[in-house]
Amino acid sequence: MKIFLDSTDIDYIMRLRATGMVDGITTNPSLMAQSGKDFGEVLRGICALIEGPVSAEVVVTESEEMYKQGRHLADLAGNIVVKLPCTWEGMIACRKLANENIKVNVTLCFSANQALLAAKAGATFISPFIGRIDDTGADGMELIEEIRAVYDNYDFETEILAASIRNIDHVKNAALIGADVATLPPKIFEELIEHPLTDKGLEKFLQDWKATGQKIPVP
Ligand code: G3P
Repeated sequence: MKIFLDSTDIDYIMRLRATGMVDGITTNPSLMAQSGKDFGEVLRGICALIEGPVSAEVVVTESEEMYKQGRHLADLAGNIVVKLPCTWEGMIACRKLANENIKVNVTLCFSANQALLAAKAGATFISPFIGRIDDTGADGMELIEEIRAVYDNYDFETEILAASIRNIDHVKNAALIGADVATLPPKIFEELIEHPLTDKGLEKFLQDWKATGQKIPVP
């Protein structure tokens, strides 16, 4: 499963890039607003750091305007993926951009029917929002399962990009179901490696080794 960071925090992205595990970035208008910076500066900065897909969202709702903004965003860098909302206008713009080999991430997906339409419109990624479905009391993971089944039934190439991730169980369950990508807030990404038994075991190993008085020579 590919792991993307859901962030516009360039310093945080740079730090976590050192793990070698950051396969891409997703942004959205709210995250862009939180950055307090010019969107072009943020996107160019991220694309200079990350070779993988970097999603940048349009901020209009009519298909022709979406198409024009999508072309502008795609021109910022070769790895920009245009984010379009899962609406009929977004589907029309998606098809037009896909026909020009511009990659699209269809976002704000909350149903398997929406995901089906996005695949038929030529989306490269579909972003089902797990956490926001959980917030309603429903189970967001069920949507990932449904989309996986629909896409496998028809060999759709659109990749499932599990989004609105709120905890490490969302990541595990998305991987168990077979999502192609999960996009994580940087803090959740950092939590993936943590386990108290690993810490406890390592401490014991090092204590026992120290008691031997030996050293392993380093070149
Ligand atoms: O960026 C898309 C998605 O990951 C947003 O997540 O936490 O705002 O629902 P959230």
